Amino acid sequence: MFSLKEEIEKNGFIKFNNSENIDFVKEINKLRKEKNAVILAHYYVSGEIQDIADFVGDSLALSQKAASTNADIIVFVGVHFMAETAKILSPEKKVILPDLNAGCSLADSCPDDKFEEFIKLHPNHTVISYVNTTAKVKALTDIVCTSSNAKQIVESIPENKPIIFGPDKNLGNYISRVTGRKMLIWDGACHVHNEFSLEGIIQLKKDNPEAKLIAHPECPFQIQIIADFVGSTSGLIEYTNTNDATTFIVATEPGVLHEMKKRNKHKIFIPAPGENYDCACSECKYMKLNNIQKLYTCLKYELPEIIIDNTIREKAYKPIKAMLDLS
Ligand code: 13P
Repeated sequence: MFSLKEEIEKNGFIKFNNSENIDFVKEINKLRKEKNAVILAHYYVSGEIQDIADFVGDSLALSQKAASTNADIIVFVGVHFMAETAKILSPEKKVILPDLNAGCSLADSCPDDKFEEFIKLHPNHTVISYVNTTAKVKALTDIVCTSSNAKQIVESIPENKPIIFGPDKNLGNYISRVTGRKMLIWDGACHVHNEFSLEGIIQLKKDNPEAKLIAHPECPFQIQIIADFVGSTSGLIEYTNTNDATTFIVATEPGVLHEMKKRNKHKIFIPAPGENYDCACSECKYMKLNNIQKLYTCLKYELPEIIIDNTIREKAYKPIKAMLDLS
């Protein structure tokens, strides 16, 4: 018989056989009150989880919330770097993540040892890292950014100071274009946004000539330039809320469609197709590892817990704090 900690080391989450037919939503509601826990969720998780979360947001709003909550426990229903960021910001709180396997292809595309070598090769640069990075990469960074404040963060660096921007090449090139600022950009990408089918999107535009194409800046250049609007998760939601169009082709993780549909029931949202363009298969496989059952066991046993080495945490805190102060 494994202990729960051993089971987490082996599987990354707690397996559960619901033989007693537990009503997970009811139990989660009870547990979060008893434990003074707050459930934070990203717009990419399933609609079912978004509906019971205390707060749903994009990466920036979630870090702001993690820094300001009075809860004793933060249940982060998102991916590992998000829960890690919450722990860095609120070290006195217990931060738990339903499944430790919920990683991020962007964070994986920037190993800390390689990034450190790159920085050493280019001394005197200001290092800006996207929040989608590990704590170790943040510890090598001068200032963190998210997609909703990347332009503002880049513009805050004096013109004469060269910049290293990592790890998303598509976001980096986009920010470079809109700010006119040359930067050394790390060659990383998000598996969801980098793999939309350009052909499939063009076909959808032909089939729906009245639709607006909206895209996240993690999408490649070829998609950004044909888009009617490029913006962060919250920027895209806001655009569909205020724009007069009634049909939108949405080139980002399709989890956001839940919020878009909730706010605008009469509008039509079409998820942009993934590589295999006869299907809308562009979901983030990591975000989708979260489910109600894992959320329940995570809250009940307060595991898996995010633990960060204190020296790394202190170094990683500074660039996140610098971002929050500017945002
Ligand atoms: P935003 O939440 O900043 O739009 O970024 C999306 C993302 O990359 C989540 O991993």
